[in-house]
Amino acid sequence: METLDKEKLAGAQAQMPRHVAIIMDGNGRWAKARGLPRAVGHRMGVEAVRRTVRAGIELGIEYLTLYAFSSENWSRPMAEIDDLMGLMKRFIRGDLAELHQSGVRIQVIGDRANVDTELLALMDEARDLTRANTAITLVIAFNYGSRREIAGAARRLAERALNGEIVAADITPEMLSAELDTKGVPDPELLIRTSGELRLSNFLLWQAAYTEFVFLDAFWPDFGRELLVQAVSEYASRSRRFGGLSHRSRA
Ligand code: IPE
Ligand code: IPE
Ligand code: MG
Repeated sequence: METLDKEKLAGAQAQMPRHVAIIMDGNGRWAKARGLPRAVGHRMGVEAVRRTVRAGIELGIEYLTLYAFSSENWSRPMAEIDDLMGLMKRFIRGDLAELHQSGVRIQVIGDRANVDTELLALMDEARDLTRANTAITLVIAFNYGSRREIAGAARRLAERALNGEIVAADITPEMLSAELDTKGVPDPELLIRTSGELRLSNFLLWQAAYTEFVFLDAFWPDFGRELLVQAVSEYASRSRRFGGLSHRSRA
């Protein structure tokens, strides 16, 4: 087991992604399969988050972005939304000290509107405390939706053009990137989605223009180091061409 992992890792080392983004899906189905309430699936999902952050540090991943709550998740029953908000608060309250000690830098992306002030304060505290850490950057996407994010960026650029700060005709993709919530974070090389669903669900639409996707059947509460290594190995075996030709075709 250990040696297998090491071999897999050695193979992947050459092409270790700097930024891995994950759509953590399948908590509800994980619970349902066990005859448990969905809330238990979410709670076990937090355990998977802990394992994944630890493994991310160990593997030398620089940025780990986790989709924790989408702007569309407000359409769930209020009781489940309360569960998810409560879990996020408990996660920050309970884990912040240890995350800080492990050198995790925490950032939060998404819309602050409609998120309760107590949770916003905890998120701010997490960001401020861990600002200078360098082991890994954990980007938590909370009340996040890519279309809102891109529309906001477009709006700010339009306002700057109207103010005469910039010339509309000179707007570049880089300028738009710099207005996104992910400003300063490199685009993800690898995006993983668990639970067998094959869609982006409004996650990092702009940033994932050339991202490699790995879809896993496992439900999120079963995710951890082993599946992360498997996804990274799969990534390392891909030929990324960015519209050009692979090395072999060029020869
Ligand atoms: C992912 O699990 C967690 C969130 C979306 C917050 P789900 O709650 O979507 O679980 P399924 O997809 O219903 O199984
Ligand atoms: C995406 O999962 C959002 C998060 C993982 C936070 P969903 O379960 O909400 O996505 P859909 O509804 O199946 O597309
Ligand atoms: Mg889901």
